[in-house]
Amino acid sequence: DKFLCGIDLGGTKINTVIITNKGEMVSSYTLPTLAHEGPEKVIQRMKETVYKVLEDAKLDVSDLEGIGVASPGPLDAKKGIVLNPPNLPGWIDITLAKILEDEFKIPVKLQNDANCAALAEYYFGAGNRTKNFVYITISTGIGGGAIIDGKLYDGANSNAAEFGHASINFDGEKCQCGSYGCFEMYASGTALANFAAKEIEKGRESVIKDIAKDGKITAKDVFEAYKMGDNLAKELIEREAFYLGVGIANIIMNYNPEVIALGGGVANGFDILYPIMIKTVEERCYKASFEGCKIVKAKLGQNSGAIGAAVLNIVFSKN
Ligand code: BGC
Ligand code: NA
Ligand code: ZN
Repeated sequence: DKFLCGIDLGGTKINTVIITNKGEMVSSYTLPTLAHEGPEKVIQRMKETVYKVLEDAKLDVSDLEGIGVASPGPLDAKKGIVLNPPNLPGWIDITLAKILEDEFKIPVKLQNDANCAALAEYYFGAGNRTKNFVYITISTGIGGGAIIDGKLYDGANSNAAEFGHASINFDGEKCQCGSYGCFEMYASGTALANFAAKEIEKGRESVIKDIAKDGKITAKDVFEAYKMGDNLAKELIEREAFYLGVGIANIIMNYNPEVIALGGGVANGFDILYPIMIKTVEERCYKASFEGCKIVKAKLGQNSGAIGAAVLNIVFSKN
């Protein structure tokens, strides 16, 4: 049996794995994306990670069934093209699958990053092959993936379940995607960090700015400050939990899932967020739609996107 390679192209990290077709990890490697350097350099680093995981696993390209790539959307999965993701500035119509096929001479499949993570969590993680399962990643952006009746539902052209760009405020600020007041503008890790930065600019006292390395605040810093009893952090995280509840209630009304798994960096604070999040969910959707639904933390951590991308080579035969 051949091995499977998956690359998760994230807003901050490129994470690449080789797994067996039973989902066992063989090797993994991570490099920073450094998205501001532009597609060419980023793709060069993606190639580098593949050579590294092969070397670490003592495998040759010919031992691979294929390569799967998880990318932020929107994308054209059939053609293997990354269109113009809000979280990958400067990427416009990049023929990523073709570029990687030319390099490695094996089949390359492209799919939305959160759809990939949903697949991975469904097969090997928190989804546990639950027939109606929703995965939400809360990181640089907010992404989603839906398993309906045991199959990934990716829509007409792999751009379904774009939860992050469902508006939760029609009067909100304009988003990169063209809409206004998108869920990810309120509840992503980037949003949480931005809200913190704004308050601190206004002169709010908080340990957040002492925790932040080289002055650049991250969502993780806000959670750390929360644990230290910081007032601003408490306010921001309670609001984060509320926004998450609002967005998740919408998702429940759409999908009536059995399990919802939360992944991405912000989900590391799952236990802190849970009480307000769940209260908000309960207040804002049909009891019948939420009946029996469990909201849980995803299990596969930062490897879910890459594992799901690797799995594309066997379970996804659409393109
Ligand atoms: C994109 C999604 C992606 C998510 C997480 C969003 O901005 O629209 O396709 O899954 O970010 O990367
Ligand atoms: Na998706
Ligand atoms: Zn948007």
